[in-house]
Amino acid sequence: MFSCDVVVIGGGAAGLMSAMVAGQRGRRVVLIEHAKRVGKKILMSGGGRCNFTNLYAGPDNYLSSNPHFCKSALARYTPADFIALVERHRIAYHEKELGQLFCDESSKDIVRMLLSECETAGVNILTECAVRSVESLEGDGFVIDTARGRFQTESLVIASGGLSIPKMGATGFGYALARQFGLSVVDTRAGLVPLTLSGTPLEDWEGLPGIAIDAAATANGTDFRGGLLWTHRGFSGPSILQISSYWKSGDTLHLNLLPELDAADDLLSARRDQPRLRLRQWLDARLPGRLAQRLCARFFEDRPLAQLRDAALREIGQQLNAWPIVVSGTEGYRTAEVTLGGVDTRELSSSTMESRRVPGLYFVGEVVDVTGWLGGYNFQWAWASAQAAGAAV
Ligand code: FDA
Repeated sequence: MFSCDVVVIGGGAAGLMSAMVAGQRGRRVVLIEHAKRVGKKILMSGGGRCNFTNLYAGPDNYLSSNPHFCKSALARYTPADFIALVERHRIAYHEKELGQLFCDESSKDIVRMLLSECETAGVNILTECAVRSVESLEGDGFVIDTARGRFQTESLVIASGGLSIPKMGATGFGYALARQFGLSVVDTRAGLVPLTLSGTPLEDWEGLPGIAIDAAATANGTDFRGGLLWTHRGFSGPSILQISSYWKSGDTLHLNLLPELDAADDLLSARRDQPRLRLRQWLDARLPGRLAQRLCARFFEDRPLAQLRDAALREIGQQLNAWPIVVSGTEGYRTAEVTLGGVDTRELSSSTMESRRVPGLYFVGEVVDVTGWLGGYNFQWAWASAQAAGAAV
Protein backbone atom coordinates (compact mmCIF):
# COMPACT_ATOMS: atom_id res chain seq x y z
CA MET A 1 0.00 0.00 0.00
CA PHE A 2 1.38 3.38 -1.06
CA SER A 3 0.56 6.19 1.32
CA CYS A 4 0.15 9.86 0.39
CA ASP A 5 -1.65 13.02 1.49
CA VAL A 6 -3.76 13.64 -1.60
CA VAL A 7 -5.02 11.49 -4.46
CA VAL A 8 -6.53 13.33 -7.44
CA ILE A 9 -8.60 11.23 -9.84
CA GLY A 10 -8.67 12.73 -13.36
CA GLY A 11 -5.86 14.48 -15.19
CA GLY A 12 -7.77 17.21 -17.01
CA ALA A 13 -7.72 20.95 -16.36
CA ALA A 14 -9.15 20.75 -12.84
CA GLY A 15 -7.16 17.67 -11.79
CA LEU A 16 -3.79 19.07 -12.90
CA MET A 17 -4.51 22.42 -11.28
CA SER A 18 -5.60 20.98 -7.93
CA ALA A 19 -2.62 18.59 -7.88
CA MET A 20 -0.27 21.46 -8.66
CA VAL A 21 -1.66 23.72 -5.92
CA ALA A 22 -1.66 20.94 -3.31
CA GLY A 23 1.89 19.92 -4.32
CA GLN A 24 3.09 23.51 -3.99
CA ARG A 25 1.87 23.44 -0.40
CA GLY A 26 4.14 20.50 0.29
CA ARG A 27 1.42 17.85 0.17
CA ARG A 28 2.43 14.46 -1.26
CA VAL A 29 0.15 14.17 -4.28
CA VAL A 30 -0.64 11.28 -6.63
CA LEU A 31 -2.72 12.04 -9.74
CA ILE A 32 -4.47 9.10 -11.38
CA GLU A 33 -5.56 9.30 -15.02
CA HIS A 34 -7.08 6.37 -16.85
CA ALA A 35 -6.25 7.62 -20.36
CA LYS A 36 -2.83 7.38 -22.01
CA ARG A 37 -2.13 11.04 -21.48
CA VAL A 38 -3.36 13.92 -19.37
CA GLY A 39 -5.06 17.11 -20.57
CA LYS A 40 -6.70 15.71 -23.69
CA LYS A 41 -9.59 18.19 -23.65
CA ILE A 42 -7.21 21.07 -23.14
CA LEU A 43 -5.33 19.92 -26.24
CA MET A 44 -8.45 19.82 -28.42
CA SER A 45 -10.00 22.97 -26.98
CA GLY A 46 -10.37 26.27 -28.77
CA GLY A 47 -9.60 24.67 -32.14
CA GLY A 48 -6.14 23.62 -30.83
CA ARG A 49 -5.39 27.01 -29.27
CA CYS A 50 -7.23 26.61 -25.92
CA ASN A 51 -9.54 29.46 -24.99
CA PHE A 52 -8.07 29.21 -21.49
CA THR A 53 -10.08 31.95 -19.75
CA ASN A 54 -12.38 34.88 -20.27
CA LEU A 55 -11.44 38.35 -19.02
CA TYR A 56 -15.02 39.00 -17.95
CA ALA A 57 -15.79 35.66 -16.26
CA GLY A 58 -18.21 36.16 -13.38
CA PRO A 59 -21.00 34.22 -11.67
CA ASP A 60 -23.59 35.36 -14.24
CA ASN A 61 -21.82 33.34 -16.92
CA TYR A 62 -22.58 30.02 -15.22
CA LEU A 63 -25.59 27.69 -14.99
CA SER A 64 -26.18 25.79 -11.76
CA SER A 65 -29.10 24.80 -9.54
CA ASN A 66 -27.49 27.21 -7.06
CA PRO A 67 -26.20 30.23 -9.00
CA HIS A 68 -24.46 31.59 -5.88
CA PHE A 69 -22.24 28.55 -5.35
CA CYS A 70 -19.54 29.49 -7.86
CA LYS A 71 -19.08 33.04 -6.50
CA SER A 72 -16.53 32.34 -3.78
CA ALA A 73 -14.11 30.25 -5.86
CA LEU A 74 -14.36 32.56 -8.87
CA ALA A 75 -13.65 35.60 -6.70
CA ARG A 76 -10.63 34.00 -5.06
CA TYR A 77 -9.00 32.77 -8.30
CA THR A 78 -9.67 35.20 -11.12
CA PRO A 79 -8.80 35.29 -14.83
CA ALA A 80 -5.95 37.67 -13.87
CA ASP A 81 -4.46 34.95 -11.63
CA PHE A 82 -4.42 32.42 -14.45
CA ILE A 83 -3.08 35.01 -16.91
CA ALA A 84 -0.22 35.71 -14.48
CA LEU A 85 0.64 32.00 -14.51
CA VAL A 86 0.51 31.91 -18.32
CA GLU A 87 2.75 34.97 -18.50
CA ARG A 88 5.23 33.49 -16.02
CA HIS A 89 5.62 30.62 -18.50
CA ARG A 90 6.05 33.12 -21.34
CA ILE A 91 3.09 31.71 -23.28
CA ALA A 92 1.97 34.18 -25.92
CA TYR A 93 -1.78 34.76 -26.08
CA HIS A 94 -4.34 37.10 -27.57
CA GLU A 95 -7.93 38.20 -27.06
CA LYS A 96 -10.08 36.94 -29.91
CA GLU A 97 -13.34 38.66 -29.02
CA LEU A 98 -15.57 39.28 -26.00
CA GLY A 99 -12.74 38.73 -23.53
CA GLN A 100 -11.88 35.24 -24.85
CA LEU A 101 -8.15 34.56 -24.42
CA PHE A 102 -6.44 32.04 -26.70
CA CYS A 103 -2.83 30.81 -27.00
CA ASP A 104 -1.07 32.31 -30.01
CA GLU A 105 0.64 28.99 -30.76
CA SER A 106 -0.98 25.88 -29.35
CA SER A 107 -3.01 24.37 -26.50
CA LYS A 108 0.04 22.19 -25.89
CA ASP A 109 1.61 25.20 -24.17
CA ILE A 110 -1.06 25.09 -21.44
CA VAL A 111 -0.61 21.35 -20.84
CA ARG A 112 3.18 21.78 -20.77
CA MET A 113 2.80 24.61 -18.27
CA LEU A 114 0.60 22.56 -15.94
CA LEU A 115 2.88 19.52 -16.22
CA SER A 116 5.95 21.59 -15.49
CA GLU A 117 4.26 23.14 -12.43
CA CYS A 118 3.19 19.68 -11.25
CA GLU A 119 6.72 18.35 -11.70
CA THR A 120 8.23 21.21 -9.71
CA ALA A 121 5.62 20.63 -7.01
CA GLY A 122 6.57 16.93 -6.86
CA VAL A 123 3.23 15.56 -8.09
CA ASN A 124 3.36 11.90 -9.04
CA ILE A 125 1.29 11.44 -12.23
CA LEU A 126 0.12 7.95 -13.16
CA THR A 127 -1.46 7.53 -16.61
CA GLU A 128 -3.25 4.44 -17.98
CA CYS A 129 -4.25 3.74 -14.42
CA ALA A 130 -7.79 2.43 -13.96
CA VAL A 131 -9.48 2.85 -10.59
CA ARG A 132 -11.10 -0.37 -9.40
CA SER A 133 -12.64 0.83 -6.15
CA VAL A 134 -12.63 3.59 -3.57
CA GLU A 135 -13.26 2.84 0.08
CA SER A 136 -13.66 5.22 2.98
CA LEU A 137 -11.68 4.57 6.16
CA GLU A 138 -14.47 6.32 8.10
CA GLY A 139 -12.87 9.64 8.95
CA ASP A 140 -9.34 8.36 8.45
CA GLY A 141 -9.00 8.87 4.73
CA PHE A 142 -9.58 6.61 1.74
CA VAL A 143 -8.12 3.55 0.06
CA ILE A 144 -8.06 3.61 -3.72
CA ASP A 145 -7.52 0.31 -5.46
CA THR A 146 -6.11 0.75 -8.97
CA ALA A 147 -4.58 -1.27 -11.76
CA ARG A 148 -1.23 0.03 -10.49
CA GLY A 149 -1.57 -0.68 -6.82
CA ARG A 150 -3.39 0.48 -3.71
CA PHE A 151 -3.13 4.03 -2.38
CA GLN A 152 -4.04 5.24 1.06
CA THR A 153 -4.74 8.96 1.27
CA GLU A 154 -6.02 11.56 3.67
CA SER A 155 -7.77 13.63 0.96
CA LEU A 156 -9.37 12.53 -2.28
CA VAL A 157 -10.10 15.01 -5.10
CA ILE A 158 -12.49 13.90 -7.84
CA ALA A 159 -11.68 15.74 -11.07
CA SER A 160 -12.99 13.18 -13.54
CA GLY A 161 -15.03 15.64 -15.62
CA GLY A 162 -18.44 15.14 -17.23
CA LEU A 163 -19.89 12.87 -19.89
CA SER A 164 -19.07 14.98 -22.95
CA ILE A 165 -17.08 13.30 -25.70
CA PRO A 166 -16.78 9.73 -24.45
CA LYS A 167 -14.18 9.10 -27.17
CA MET A 168 -11.84 11.42 -25.27
CA GLY A 169 -12.07 9.36 -22.08
CA ALA A 170 -15.17 10.92 -20.48
CA THR A 171 -16.90 8.66 -17.96
CA GLY A 172 -19.63 8.90 -15.36
CA PHE A 173 -17.07 7.93 -12.69
CA GLY A 174 -17.45 11.09 -10.59
CA TYR A 175 -21.24 10.85 -10.45
CA ALA A 176 -21.11 7.14 -9.51
CA LEU A 177 -18.57 7.86 -6.79
CA ALA A 178 -20.69 10.73 -5.43
CA ARG A 179 -23.68 8.38 -5.23
CA GLN A 180 -21.56 5.66 -3.62
CA PHE A 181 -20.90 8.12 -0.78
CA GLY A 182 -24.57 9.14 -0.56
CA LEU A 183 -24.19 12.54 -2.27
CA SER A 184 -26.98 13.70 -4.56
CA VAL A 185 -26.32 14.41 -8.22
CA VAL A 186 -28.33 16.88 -10.31
CA ASP A 187 -29.57 15.23 -13.53
CA THR A 188 -27.05 15.62 -16.31
CA ARG A 189 -27.60 16.64 -19.92
CA ALA A 190 -25.47 17.75 -22.85
CA GLY A 191 -24.63 21.47 -23.03
CA LEU A 192 -22.90 23.70 -25.60
CA VAL A 193 -24.12 21.27 -28.23
CA PRO A 194 -25.66 21.51 -31.75
CA LEU A 195 -29.47 21.28 -31.88
CA THR A 196 -31.24 18.80 -34.17
CA LEU A 197 -34.50 18.84 -36.12
CA SER A 198 -36.77 16.11 -37.44
CA GLY A 199 -39.91 15.80 -39.59
CA THR A 200 -41.18 18.98 -41.25
CA PRO A 201 -38.70 21.40 -39.58
CA LEU A 202 -35.83 19.25 -40.87
CA GLU A 203 -37.34 19.23 -44.38
CA ASP A 204 -37.77 23.01 -44.16
CA TRP A 205 -34.12 23.66 -43.41
CA GLU A 206 -32.15 20.69 -44.76
CA GLY A 207 -29.79 21.05 -47.69
CA LEU A 208 -28.29 24.30 -46.38
CA PRO A 209 -25.21 23.03 -44.46
CA GLY A 210 -22.33 25.45 -44.45
CA ILE A 211 -24.50 28.57 -44.50
CA ALA A 212 -23.54 30.87 -41.64
CA ILE A 213 -25.11 34.17 -40.57
CA ASP A 214 -25.04 36.49 -37.58
CA ALA A 215 -28.22 35.77 -35.62
CA ALA A 216 -29.76 35.78 -32.16
CA ALA A 217 -31.22 32.65 -30.58
CA THR A 218 -33.78 32.78 -27.76
CA ALA A 219 -35.14 30.04 -25.48
CA ASN A 220 -36.60 30.14 -22.00
CA GLY A 221 -36.25 33.92 -21.77
CA THR A 222 -32.51 33.89 -22.50
CA ASP A 223 -30.96 35.06 -25.74
CA PHE A 224 -27.53 34.93 -27.33
CA ARG A 225 -26.24 36.78 -30.34
CA GLY A 226 -23.54 35.23 -32.54
CA GLY A 227 -22.88 32.95 -35.46
CA LEU A 228 -25.65 30.59 -36.60
CA LEU A 229 -24.62 27.67 -38.76
CA TRP A 230 -26.80 25.25 -40.71
CA THR A 231 -25.72 21.58 -40.31
CA HIS A 232 -26.98 18.34 -41.90
CA ARG A 233 -29.19 17.69 -38.89
CA GLY A 234 -30.13 21.17 -37.67
CA PHE A 235 -28.24 24.15 -36.29
CA SER A 236 -24.89 24.91 -34.70
CA GLY A 237 -22.57 27.92 -34.30
CA PRO A 238 -21.88 30.00 -31.18
CA SER A 239 -25.42 31.37 -30.72
CA ILE A 240 -26.87 27.85 -30.89
CA LEU A 241 -24.24 26.25 -28.64
CA GLN A 242 -24.86 28.95 -26.05
CA ILE A 243 -28.65 28.66 -26.14
CA SER A 244 -28.50 24.83 -26.13
CA SER A 245 -27.52 24.99 -22.44
CA TYR A 246 -30.79 26.85 -21.70
CA TRP A 247 -33.03 24.93 -24.12
CA LYS A 248 -34.97 22.03 -22.64
CA SER A 249 -36.90 19.28 -24.44
CA GLY A 250 -40.25 20.65 -25.60
CA ASP A 251 -39.15 24.32 -25.69
CA THR A 252 -39.57 26.28 -28.90
CA LEU A 253 -36.46 28.06 -30.07
CA HIS A 254 -36.77 31.50 -31.68
CA LEU A 255 -34.19 32.66 -34.21
CA ASN A 256 -33.72 36.26 -35.19
CA LEU A 257 -32.26 35.97 -38.69
CA LEU A 258 -31.80 39.75 -39.03
CA PRO A 259 -30.76 40.93 -35.56
CA GLU A 260 -29.53 44.32 -36.80
CA LEU A 261 -32.88 45.18 -38.30
CA ASP A 262 -36.53 45.72 -37.47
CA ALA A 263 -37.44 43.65 -40.52
CA ALA A 264 -41.10 44.77 -40.67
CA ASP A 265 -40.18 48.48 -40.63
CA ASP A 266 -37.48 47.89 -43.20
CA LEU A 267 -39.89 46.05 -45.51
CA LEU A 268 -42.52 48.80 -45.19
CA SER A 269 -40.03 51.51 -46.08
CA ALA A 270 -38.57 49.42 -48.93
CA ARG A 271 -42.09 49.12 -50.40
CA ARG A 272 -42.52 52.88 -50.18
CA ASP A 273 -39.15 53.62 -51.84
CA GLN A 274 -38.97 50.75 -54.34
CA PRO A 275 -42.48 49.35 -54.88
CA ARG A 276 -41.32 47.08 -57.72
CA LEU A 277 -38.59 45.44 -55.66
CA ARG A 278 -39.41 41.74 -55.22
CA LEU A 279 -39.32 40.11 -51.79
CA ARG A 280 -36.57 37.74 -52.98
CA GLN A 281 -34.40 40.71 -53.96
CA TRP A 282 -34.96 42.33 -50.57
CA LEU A 283 -33.95 39.07 -48.87
CA ASP A 284 -30.95 38.55 -51.19
CA ALA A 285 -29.56 41.91 -50.12
CA ARG A 286 -29.66 40.89 -46.45
CA LEU A 287 -29.10 37.12 -46.27
CA PRO A 288 -27.02 34.51 -48.16
CA GLY A 289 -28.56 33.77 -51.58
CA ARG A 290 -29.29 30.07 -50.92
CA LEU A 291 -31.09 30.95 -47.71
CA ALA A 292 -33.14 33.70 -49.40
CA GLN A 293 -34.06 31.22 -52.11
CA ARG A 294 -35.17 28.66 -49.51
CA LEU A 295 -37.28 31.22 -47.65
CA CYS A 296 -39.13 32.10 -50.84
CA ALA A 297 -39.47 28.47 -51.95
CA ARG A 298 -40.88 27.23 -48.67
CA PHE A 299 -42.31 30.05 -46.61
CA PHE A 300 -42.99 33.27 -48.51
CA GLU A 301 -44.40 34.20 -51.89
CA ASP A 302 -41.86 36.05 -54.01
CA ARG A 303 -43.91 39.04 -55.20
CA PRO A 304 -43.17 42.73 -55.80
CA LEU A 305 -43.41 44.49 -52.43
CA ALA A 306 -46.16 46.74 -53.83
CA GLN A 307 -48.42 43.69 -54.01
CA LEU A 308 -47.97 42.89 -50.32
CA ARG A 309 -50.26 44.57 -47.80
CA ASP A 310 -49.04 46.06 -44.51
CA ALA A 311 -50.22 43.04 -42.53
CA ALA A 312 -48.39 40.62 -44.83
CA LEU A 313 -45.14 42.61 -44.63
CA ARG A 314 -45.43 42.86 -40.86
CA GLU A 315 -45.95 39.11 -40.63
CA ILE A 316 -42.89 38.41 -42.78
CA GLY A 317 -40.83 40.87 -40.75
CA GLN A 318 -42.02 39.38 -37.49
CA GLN A 319 -41.11 35.89 -38.69
CA LEU A 320 -37.61 36.95 -39.78
CA ASN A 321 -36.97 38.59 -36.40
CA ALA A 322 -38.37 35.73 -34.28
CA TRP A 323 -38.59 32.55 -36.31
CA PRO A 324 -40.14 29.81 -34.17
CA ILE A 325 -38.32 26.49 -34.56
CA VAL A 326 -39.49 23.20 -33.12
CA VAL A 327 -36.25 21.53 -32.05
CA SER A 328 -36.31 17.76 -31.65
CA GLY A 329 -33.16 17.35 -29.55
CA THR A 330 -29.41 17.80 -29.37
CA GLU A 331 -26.48 15.91 -30.83
CA GLY A 332 -25.88 14.64 -27.29
CA TYR A 333 -22.67 13.93 -25.43
CA ARG A 334 -20.95 12.77 -28.63
CA THR A 335 -20.33 16.39 -29.65
CA ALA A 336 -21.26 18.41 -26.54
CA GLU A 337 -18.54 20.64 -25.13
CA VAL A 338 -19.84 20.31 -21.60
CA THR A 339 -22.17 18.40 -19.28
CA LEU A 340 -24.83 20.33 -17.41
CA GLY A 341 -25.80 19.14 -13.94
CA GLY A 342 -23.50 17.03 -11.79
CA VAL A 343 -22.61 16.74 -8.12
CA ASP A 344 -25.19 18.81 -6.25
CA THR A 345 -23.59 21.99 -4.94
CA ARG A 346 -25.63 21.71 -1.73
CA GLU A 347 -23.37 18.77 -0.89
CA LEU A 348 -20.19 20.85 -1.12
CA SER A 349 -18.52 23.75 0.65
CA SER A 350 -18.31 26.65 -1.81
CA SER A 351 -14.98 27.77 -0.36
CA THR A 352 -13.15 24.42 -0.46
CA MET A 353 -15.26 22.08 -2.68
CA GLU A 354 -15.17 19.55 0.17
CA SER A 355 -18.15 17.28 0.72
CA ARG A 356 -20.22 18.30 3.72
CA ARG A 357 -21.08 14.66 4.47
CA VAL A 358 -17.73 13.01 3.76
CA PRO A 359 -14.76 14.95 5.17
CA GLY A 360 -11.68 14.67 2.96
CA LEU A 361 -13.65 14.11 -0.26
CA TYR A 362 -13.54 16.97 -2.80
CA PHE A 363 -15.14 17.51 -6.24
CA VAL A 364 -13.74 20.03 -8.74
CA GLY A 365 -14.30 21.12 -12.33
CA GLU A 366 -17.00 19.91 -14.66
CA VAL A 367 -18.17 17.03 -12.45
CA VAL A 368 -19.78 19.67 -10.20
CA ASP A 369 -23.17 21.19 -11.08
CA VAL A 370 -21.60 24.41 -12.39
CA THR A 371 -21.44 24.92 -16.16
CA GLY A 372 -20.10 27.92 -18.00
CA TRP A 373 -21.02 29.62 -21.24
CA LEU A 374 -18.96 29.16 -24.35
CA GLY A 375 -15.87 31.39 -24.36
CA GLY A 376 -13.27 30.28 -21.80
CA TYR A 377 -15.65 30.24 -18.83
CA ASN A 378 -15.48 26.47 -18.31
CA PHE A 379 -11.72 26.43 -17.97
CA GLN A 380 -11.92 29.39 -15.58
CA TRP A 381 -14.30 27.32 -13.41
CA ALA A 382 -11.91 24.34 -13.61
CA TRP A 383 -8.94 26.51 -12.51
CA ALA A 384 -10.88 28.34 -9.76
CA SER A 385 -12.61 25.31 -8.21
CA ALA A 386 -9.34 23.35 -8.38
CA GLN A 387 -7.44 26.15 -6.68
CA ALA A 388 -10.04 26.20 -3.89
CA ALA A 389 -9.67 22.46 -3.28
CA GLY A 390 -5.89 22.40 -3.81
CA ALA A 391 -5.48 25.04 -1.11
CA ALA A 392 -7.62 23.05 1.34
CA VAL A 393 -6.60 19.40 0.95
P1 FDA B 1 -11.86 17.02 -18.09
O1 FDA B 1 -12.90 16.29 -18.83
O2 FDA B 1 -11.01 17.99 -18.79
O3 FDA B 1 -10.87 16.00 -17.38
C1 FDA B 1 -11.33 14.84 -16.75
C2 FDA B 1 -10.21 13.82 -16.77
O4 FDA B 1 -10.58 12.71 -15.97
C3 FDA B 1 -9.94 13.30 -18.17
O5 FDA B 1 -8.56 13.33 -18.41
C4 FDA B 1 -10.47 11.87 -18.13
O6 FDA B 1 -9.78 11.00 -18.99
C5 FDA B 1 -10.25 11.52 -16.66
N1 FDA B 1 -11.09 10.46 -16.14
C6 FDA B 1 -12.42 10.27 -16.38
N2 FDA B 1 -12.84 9.17 -15.74
C7 FDA B 1 -11.75 8.67 -15.08
C8 FDA B 1 -11.55 7.53 -14.25
N3 FDA B 1 -12.55 6.67 -13.97
N4 FDA B 1 -10.31 7.31 -13.76
C9 FDA B 1 -9.29 8.16 -14.04
N5 FDA B 1 -9.41 9.22 -14.84
C10 FDA B 1 -10.65 9.48 -15.34
N6 FDA B 1 -13.74 25.20 -22.26
C11 FDA B 1 -13.18 26.43 -22.27
O7 FDA B 1 -13.24 27.13 -21.26
N7 FDA B 1 -12.53 26.88 -23.40
C12 FDA B 1 -12.43 26.13 -24.53
O8 FDA B 1 -11.78 26.53 -25.52
C13 FDA B 1 -13.08 24.86 -24.55
N8 FDA B 1 -13.08 24.11 -25.67
C14 FDA B 1 -13.62 22.85 -25.65
C15 FDA B 1 -13.61 22.08 -26.81
C16 FDA B 1 -14.13 20.81 -26.80
C17 FDA B 1 -14.17 20.00 -28.06
C18 FDA B 1 -14.68 20.27 -25.59
C19 FDA B 1 -15.21 18.89 -25.53
C20 FDA B 1 -14.71 21.05 -24.44
C21 FDA B 1 -14.20 22.34 -24.46
N9 FDA B 1 -14.24 23.16 -23.33
C22 FDA B 1 -13.69 24.41 -23.37
C23 FDA B 1 -14.77 22.65 -22.05
C24 FDA B 1 -13.59 22.22 -21.16
O9 FDA B 1 -12.76 21.36 -21.93
C25 FDA B 1 -14.08 21.48 -19.92
O10 FDA B 1 -15.03 22.25 -19.24
C26 FDA B 1 -12.89 21.20 -18.99
O11 FDA B 1 -11.96 20.40 -19.68
C27 FDA B 1 -13.34 20.52 -17.72
O12 FDA B 1 -12.19 20.19 -16.99
P2 FDA B 1 -12.21 18.97 -15.98
O13 FDA B 1 -10.79 18.80 -15.54
O14 FDA B 1 -13.26 19.13 -14.98
O15 FDA B 1 -12.63 17.69 -16.86
